[in-house]
Amino acid sequence: MAEIIDGKQVAESVVATVADATRGLAGKGVQPGLAVVIVGEDPASQVYVASKSKKAKECGFHSVQHTLPADTSQPDLVALIETLNADPAIHGILVQLPLPDHIDAGAIIQTIDPEKDVDGFTFVNVGRLGTGEVDTAFVPCTPAGSMLLIERVRGSDLSGLNAVVVGRSNIVGKPMANLLLAANCTVTVAHSRTKDLPALCRTADIVVAAVGRPEMVKGDWIKEGATVIDVGINRIPAPEKGEGKTRLVGDVAFAEAAEKAGAITPVPGGVGPMTIALLMANTLVSACRVAGVTPPRF
Ligand code: GUN
Repeated sequence: MAEIIDGKQVAESVVATVADATRGLAGKGVQPGLAVVIVGEDPASQVYVASKSKKAKECGFHSVQHTLPADTSQPDLVALIETLNADPAIHGILVQLPLPDHIDAGAIIQTIDPEKDVDGFTFVNVGRLGTGEVDTAFVPCTPAGSMLLIERVRGSDLSGLNAVVVGRSNIVGKPMANLLLAANCTVTVAHSRTKDLPALCRTADIVVAAVGRPEMVKGDWIKEGATVIDVGINRIPAPEKGEGKTRLVGDVAFAEAAEKAGAITPVPGGVGPMTIALLMANTLVSACRVAGVTPPRF
């Protein structure tokens, strides 16, 4: 039976390190500042944004949230981001995705100052990560958090291990592949057109599932002893809990995969808590750079 990787516990230790370093920065007259921008009323986004703002306060940050109406124009959103770019009290800017259809999300992201781009979505940060400049890049929070969990199990040098990343999104799959490559893994990125995905996954010492399909990765796809990181968060009907009830599952069929894996993340309680923790870490790192202080290592 696999080790169940406790993402909640690792996330708490990251947040404790951030809070500690924030107290240290106060002595230099710097308080990390995080601005979170949400446009419209998507209920899931509202929940995420509220928890990001709450965690920022827990860390001792200056935390601001801008909630804009769904019909906000693109120029008005750009104007807000430019104000935040110029505000010395703000070290991190996060524009919650998705944005309403009339706004070009790609263009909006590129207006964020790369030195405040704590999501790691601007071309500058994507380029830094892609060229292996992992120490200067802001790395997107979900893959950065997933990588910390992998390192807890496998150590920081993953030389020669085969890693399969299932999913090629800009937010998770591609940056995850680059992080694993920077750690000396042999990386394959699989996607909807990949042939014989089960056979490919069986070659993997590390499987990262980030496709958004409930329980797609089966137990017999997993090599004995592999590390399995499940990024998926899918809500599915749970009639066994009663009429109209639902439950959360990942992209991995957890019970059967846990029979084969050496270590596996649960859903919930695996990667999920890490995402917010790494947003706090990125914001702290940004503030440390401004203050000329060496940030802690996570
Ligand atoms: N929406 C879902 N995940 C994310 C994320 O990591 N960052 C932002 N900005 N929006 C998201």
